[in-house]
Amino acid sequence: MNCSCFGSSKKVLQKKDDKDVHQSEREEEGGSIAKTKNFSYNELRVATNNFHQSNKIGRGGFGTVYKGILKNGTQIAVKTLSTESKQGLHEFMTEIDTISDVKHPNLVELLGCCVHGPNKILVYEYLENNSIDRALLDPRRSIKLDWENRSAICMGIARGLAYLHEELVPHIVHRDVKASNILLDKDFQPKIGDFGLAKLFPDDITHISTKVAGTTGYLAPEYVLGGQLTMKADVYSFGVLTLEVVSGRSSAYTNYGGAYKLLVEWAWELYEAEKLLDLVDPQLEEFPENEVLRYMKVALFCTQATASRRPLMSQVIEMLSKDVKLNEKQLTPPGFFEDSKHVSGSMSKNKSSETSTSHQMSSFPITITQLIPR
Ligand SMILES: Nc1ncnc2c1ncn2[C@@H]1O[C@H](COP(=O)(O)OP(=O)(O)OP(=O)(O)O)[C@@H](O)[C@H]1O
Ligand SMILES: [Mg+2]
Repeated sequence: MNCSCFGSSKKVLQKKDDKDVHQSEREEEGGSIAKTKNFSYNELRVATNNFHQSNKIGRGGFGTVYKGILKNGTQIAVKTLSTESKQGLHEFMTEIDTISDVKHPNLVELLGCCVHGPNKILVYEYLENNSIDRALLDPRRSIKLDWENRSAICMGIARGLAYLHEELVPHIVHRDVKASNILLDKDFQPKIGDFGLAKLFPDDITHISTKVAGTTGYLAPEYVLGGQLTMKADVYSFGVLTLEVVSGRSSAYTNYGGAYKLLVEWAWELYEAEKLLDLVDPQLEEFPENEVLRYMKVALFCTQATASRRPLMSQVIEMLSKDVKLNEKQLTPPGFFEDSKHVSGSMSKNKSSETSTSHQMSSFPITITQLIPR
């Protein structure tokens, strides 16, 4: 079944231009590493004040991130990869080379890398306004983002993903689209970070699923259930992210709607009750109701349980823009999974067996829940 979120399905443009030619040339060479700038370890050590604690800006599943300043004054983000990955150096460099080729205004630019003994380090452009989990979802946040900022953030992320999915050859499925991987520049324009990185870690499903609570809230049910990784899993995560941006609430929490509900579950309940505006961030004092409603409905199209019903990112861009009428008759309920470690309350909330089905996975403790359409 194809997505039919609006009238007829749209043709997706494939840009197979000189990049394509360039790519195949490089494949023939067996993956040149000449394109990626190599930073010396010493240069990065000096830039980060010897990887000083005070320069540390975060830590994720791939390693620790430090802020650095190069001799020429350029600010950089230095990501030291944890080196348990058994990947060979050549394979690593080939992968890095592919990522460093990818340039788009809504993607964090990889400036180069450094391999020094066991240390593998990636150097990115530095983004002043941090990630959206800190700028928007942290209760202690100091920045106030209005609707103009927030809609631009959603649209920018959509453009970045559409580029990765539909313009780039070969396509990149991000696999880890979430608030901490969306960084904001000085004008609060969004840039997607860490694309292509999951490929460097063969055990990325473990990386994603065993990490901090909250990552799980972004994962498409078919990905967790059957390991099916398509661009529609990213579309699902984009939908969750959009709900977070509009509501100012994190999908890491599981107690929405006065009960133990996930954000996407609560959003669907409000949609059905025609109270979707209750989801909007109370910090947003003024906003265009119809447009905000449209964004939330697009998010619901993206989180539908059946992957093939979710739109492509190029369609999402059209759906978010003003002149398209959404075909809500086609909208079906979301699928989601709950990490049983974090939602023990949810297990006892006595969900009606008439409205949901659960599947227990044996490899790690999660429960998949899919609402059955009415
Ligand atoms: N290019 C950057 N510019 C500024 N801050 C950054 C940059 N890259 C990462 N950060 C900061 O470092 C933090 C940690 O990033 P990191 O990617 O290591 O972890 P994560 O996104 O939480 O998890 P994951 O490992 O799954 O990506 C981010 O939340 C962000 O605040
Ligand atoms: Mg990250």
